[in-house]
Amino acid sequence: MKRALSMAALIATVSVGVASAQVSGTDHDMSTNEPTGQICIFCHTPHNASPAVPLWNHTLPTASYTEYASPTMDSASAGPLQNGTGVSNLCLSCHDGTVGLGDLVNNGPAGPPTNAGTLIGGPGLLGTDLSNDHPINIIYDEAVDAELVARATVVLTLDLFGTGADELQCATCHDPHNDNNQPFLVIANTNSALCTTCHIK
Ligand code: HEC
Ligand code: HEC
Ligand code: HEC
Ligand code: HEC
Repeated sequence: MKRALSMAALIATVSVGVASAQVSGTDHDMSTNEPTGQICIFCHTPHNASPAVPLWNHTLPTASYTEYASPTMDSASAGPLQNGTGVSNLCLSCHDGTVGLGDLVNNGPAGPPTNAGTLIGGPGLLGTDLSNDHPINIIYDEAVDAELVARATVVLTLDLFGTGADELQCATCHDPHNDNNQPFLVIANTNSALCTTCHIK
């Protein structure tokens, strides 16, 4: 009994430790630009958020995108990416380089962040031409490609989005809250483990 209790206490301590090492201190912590040092506000607000879930607070882009295409690509599109409110649009609201990093729907009580008009640069700038990036906004379906792992197996490790829980989006591979596996990868890509979660190669 005593041992069971201390085990529970240990687990509680470990999970608190993990939670405190998340957005804070990562590239996604822009709190030094926010008058009251808020972290989450660059992406979420509890009230008067944009129409996009989850309580999205970053101004959404109106850009048009060129999506990945190739002769051997079999997957169906998950729908329009342009002007959308889907999960990948949330990432693109900063990473396409068309909207300021601190350009928010609902500013905090002390006013807008100092980086309201600053556009992303460096490797974080993907731009609006996504034809040289891994396909996103597609339906994951092993029936279209014999060299894809079964969806039921993939979702044990990675999140697929949308009402059918079958859409491959940016957040399938990246967790914007956790940079323990840089760059913000859901699992470490050592020995290409991320790639082979889906590709039988
Ligand atoms: C740089 C942008 C960004 C920041 C900063 C950020 N988030 Fe998120 N968050 C997202 C995106 C994008 C999603 C949707 C994709 C996903 O679920 O991973 C999300 C999803 C969520 C969700 C719902 C899904 C889940 O994972 O439970 C919660 C709750 C959440 N965030 C809370 C927070 C809190 C609290 C903070 C501040 C400590 C924060 N986020 C900071 C981008 C961000
Ligand atoms: C509010 C703006 C914002 C949003 C929204 C946002 N990011 Fe970022 N992200 C940044 C900034 C700023 C950096 C740092 C860029 C740099 O210095 O190169 C960054 C860095 C990154 C990096 C590391 C890049 C590198 O140079 O190593 C990855 C990966 C990344 N973001 C993925 C995502 C994904 C995926 C989403 C959506 C789930 C997302 N981000 C949403 C602002 C944002
Ligand atoms: C299929 C998985 C996958 C998807 C989907 C994906 N990424 Fe990545 N991303 C990666 C991996 C893996 C890396 C690290 C590349 C490396 O280390 O060579 C990376 C790197 C990055 C970087 C750092 C820049 C660079 O050139 O390495 C950014 C920024 C980024 N991703 C943002 C995004 C955004 C935004 C989306 C959606 C539009 C997205 N990613 C979709 C797997 C993915
Ligand atoms: C969540 C599952 C998933 C992950 C993780 C993933 N992929 Fe993919 N990838 C896909 C799907 C689905 C397609 C589209 C396949 C098709 O339609 O033929 C694709 C397409 C591709 C293509 C283009 C194929 C073509 O026919 O043009 C390449 C190359 C590729 N992935 C490489 C990678 C690499 C490298 C990684 C790791 C960094 C990776 N993928 C991670 C699911 C994934």
